[in-house]
Amino acid sequence: MDHLRGKAIIASGFHSKRRGEIDFFQNALISMDSDGAILSILRPHHEDYTEQKDRQAAAGTLVTLPEGCYLLPGFVDLHIHAPQYPQLGSALDVPLEVWLQKYTFPLEARYVDTVFARKSYRQLVDDLIANGTTTALYFATVHQEATRILADICLEAGQRALIGKVVMDNAEQCPDNYRDASPDEALRGTEDLIGYIRNHPENAAGLVKPVVTPRFIPSCTDATLAALGALARQCNCHIQTHCSESDWEHGYVRDRHGITDTESLDRFGLLGRHTILAHSNLITSANMDTIRERRSGIAHCPLSNAYFSSAVFPLKAALEKGLHVGLGTDISGGPSASLFDNMRSALFVARLLESGVDPQLGPAERSRQRGVWIDFRDAFYLATTGGGVALDLPVGQFSPGYQFDALAIDTAAPRGTIRLWNDLDEGENILQKIIYTASKSNIARVWIGGREVSRFTKP
Ligand code: GUN
Ligand code: FE
Repeated sequence: MDHLRGKAIIASGFHSKRRGEIDFFQNALISMDSDGAILSILRPHHEDYTEQKDRQAAAGTLVTLPEGCYLLPGFVDLHIHAPQYPQLGSALDVPLEVWLQKYTFPLEARYVDTVFARKSYRQLVDDLIANGTTTALYFATVHQEATRILADICLEAGQRALIGKVVMDNAEQCPDNYRDASPDEALRGTEDLIGYIRNHPENAAGLVKPVVTPRFIPSCTDATLAALGALARQCNCHIQTHCSESDWEHGYVRDRHGITDTESLDRFGLLGRHTILAHSNLITSANMDTIRERRSGIAHCPLSNAYFSSAVFPLKAALEKGLHVGLGTDISGGPSASLFDNMRSALFVARLLESGVDPQLGPAERSRQRGVWIDFRDAFYLATTGGGVALDLPVGQFSPGYQFDALAIDTAAPRGTIRLWNDLDEGENILQKIIYTASKSNIARVWIGGREVSRFTKP
């Protein structure tokens, strides 16, 4: 494995600093400091390029990516339920409120067993890294021990991660064997995890961060929601929860609080610059204004929404309003661990939203939505810089001061699924083909903070 801390790499690749804009760099010289942050990215015509390249080569600190390999920023997954990985690709036959009680809470309850937790979490983290996910925002379970194990594993594997002990203490909505016993216990469990992660001896650089994680309003009592809002402010922590995901969930909050999820979360002090709201499919235009004012982020989970939401997130409207949006796999509501799959899902659900889907209706009546398409550039932005901006972390692009979280995509991998044609494919079209056709076999190498954490083939 080639660690790139304090070294430099010559590579061609792509990144997107602003939505809709792709920067294609060729044979750029990217230099890293000893902590894995990018010092500079120089193009061949830059006056210092040759001198710096020669200096790194003479010092034996220059790595060159072979032709046919392209560097992309590592992917940011803004919404994953780590304990649900054993259920990936199953249990997709019932609505959300049934799915939670019938399949998901019983599975999550098993994480009281730390042997099971270690095995399942290690498999997940390894698979996510191999799929190119370099930053992950995780819901764990209510359990203290198992959630600590997830933090340990991310540190061992070198994955950038934000991890929350799930809080759920509403006896009306949560099973007796799987909930926090009281608001006090929910709060104490969250505080303990914050302390554990922040004081972890292997976490001096803050690779792993704690997250205040009320599962969603139905799972939590009002006392706990209020206490978690105060705790997040006091500890300056990220917050994650689900918001306006499905008709049932949206209606439940309206019945209980008489307002929308967004308004209710805001009243509990749970909307801030470091909040990520999963789904948010049914948010109103006024909700979007509130989310923008609070500068909170949204995890768009297009694949999961197809199974559990009966609605497509109004992505284009949110982006045009200036909201911070990234992508979430929502494992296991979404049956794929791949951000490539979720980029493609975001692309095609935007198309369906615009066209409508009922063949019994004429083309003019099939949908009321216009101009809601996105393209591969938008999808790529969401999976990289968009996620980084939402989390307020320096990841998702190759710019000085940003962490070198990167993938080498081998477009010529024989067992891969990208096929380029020399006389047809150049520039941005190569990225388009990568986004539409890449698979795990094309992800040759993965670096997080300049540390190489996965190598699939020897390019
Ligand atoms: N709402 C509350 N919990 C969950 C969960 O685990 N998955 C999804 N998709 N929605 C939820
Ligand atoms: Fe979820």
